Amino acid sequence: MKRHFAPTAKSIAWMPFLIGLLCLWSSLASAEKPAKAAVASAHYLATEAGHEVLANGGNAFDAAIAVSAALAVVEPASSGLGGGAFWLLHRAADDHQVMIDGRETAPAAAHRDMYLNENGEVNRDLAVNGPLAAGIPGHAAGMVHLAQNYGRLPLSESLKPAIRLATEGFPVDEKYHSLMSFRAETIRRWPAATEALLVDGENPPVGHIIKLPDIANTLRLIAEQGFEGFYKGETADKLVKGVQEAGGIWTHADLAGYTIKEREPIRTSYQGYELVTAPPPSSGGVAIAEILNIVEPYKISDLDPVKRIHVLAEAMRRAYRDRSIYLGDPDFFDVPVRLLTSRDYAAGLRASIRLDRATDSNSLAGFEDSPKGTDTTHFSLIDTDGNMVAATLTVNLPYGAAFMAPGTGFLLNNEMDDFSAKAGAPNAYGLLGYSANAIEPHKRMLSSMTPTFVLGEEKVAVLGTPGGSRIITMVLLGLLDFIDGNGPVSWVSLPRIHHQYQPDQISAEPDALTADQIAALEALGHTVNVRERTWGNMHGVMWNRQTGEVEGGSDPRWPSGRAIVK
Ligand code: GLY
Repeated sequence: MKRHFAPTAKSIAWMPFLIGLLCLWSSLASAEKPAKAAVASAHYLATEAGHEVLANGGNAFDAAIAVSAALAVVEPASSGLGGGAFWLLHRAADDHQVMIDGRETAPAAAHRDMYLNENGEVNRDLAVNGPLAAGIPGHAAGMVHLAQNYGRLPLSESLKPAIRLATEGFPVDEKYHSLMSFRAETIRRWPAATEALLVDGENPPVGHIIKLPDIANTLRLIAEQGFEGFYKGETADKLVKGVQEAGGIWTHADLAGYTIKEREPIRTSYQGYELVTAPPPSSGGVAIAEILNIVEPYKISDLDPVKRIHVLAEAMRRAYRDRSIYLGDPDFFDVPVRLLTSRDYAAGLRASIRLDRATDSNSLAGFEDSPKGTDTTHFSLIDTDGNMVAATLTVNLPYGAAFMAPGTGFLLNNEMDDFSAKAGAPNAYGLLGYSANAIEPHKRMLSSMTPTFVLGEEKVAVLGTPGGSRIITMVLLGLLDFIDGNGPVSWVSLPRIHHQYQPDQISAEPDALTADQIAALEALGHTVNVRERTWGNMHGVMWNRQTGEVEGGSDPRWPSGRAIVK
């Protein structure tokens, strides 16, 4: 028999509680979208550019174009139209996740031994300075691809803030000045770069206004003509002429033939969280999946700090060893992604870890890989529809190759140095290490850039950072901090430690470890190298899917970074 609800004194007493529950339910139901948008980037002017485009009706992907273009103007040390990028996207309407691969490619005339001198040694100057060090840029093609396939606005709108910044100028900040003090001497070799980025041939002081009208012109051409505005016509003519006159090997066909790749992200899970992260030609997603699979059974959040660092370092050691052997451009080399990211494979690696002793890296068969790249930039953003972008952009070393083709206003990358520099000299341990990431025409060089989403039942994290080979371990530490329940201000501020197989040592930021912790790690057999400088420049955002609340965090290591929620 059906029972009808009739109010009694007891049920009336429960009413406020039931109404409370109803309110909570409706607030959960209405919190399927973020209450506000959040943009976190390495420069406040780029963060503001993202919000400007959102306020003008753009979605997260339009905002990503605006931030990418603005960073290319105001942070020339780290990224730019002469460089490349990975944009990891989440489109809320259909839960589509993809990585837009705008990595640079080797020019057609590139070859395996192009940086070796007559003695078979790498000529470091050629590999990192000047036009021969530069791959064919993907940054501009990536922005065009985003606009054509994911954005709502025309490029004329999403590029507007960057064009304004390049035209009206921006103040030199601490990062510009500090990194320029290392690169000014090399910049001075090339007149166009000297004219654009130095003042009377000297490093400009903090606060000096830099205007880059040639970049503004290039951005206008991209806005008007899309891909052709950069890869053909006026810009391509200036690039090819400038590069060839300075000894480089680019051709019009290299530029016209550049293609963006849409890549299926690496997906893995850890303690109930889903990770969506960068696939090859990044090594980051594979390495992070491998590390998490190795450490998961240790329940590292419950370990004391020394044991936790030991276990993490042992997992990092093994993942970086595999990075050096198996990772390269998947269009040229059959990267065994399924194997490397499988839990069975991780179990095998875990079996060789001892809790009471560090492994000697030399006891693991491998290939010595030197750390690559020290600069680059990252931004994270989310719009009020729940679309998300994590993007890491690069010219490789600070100020890239330090070379600028006359009339363009932007520096070229030195990403060719992310290929295996000793491609022609197979090492003692095996051929695989050399072929996976050897230089070949049109190939993409291996990257460590790791834009990442971490999706929990309640909270979602969007994060990434620059920092060369340390990117992977920084993202790892950041996402573990998120899974431990902390917000983006915590992830980006965390002290950092790193192990990359070779050199066989735990690197630590100046205040990351106490004297007792260093002694305990050394007693386990680790070499601990406390560095003089901090590293990285992480920018992340977090969305609580149940409350709708959004937070952002910008790395305190460099003061120009900014996370703005509005
Ligand atoms: N150039 C830095 C990286 O791609 O890893």
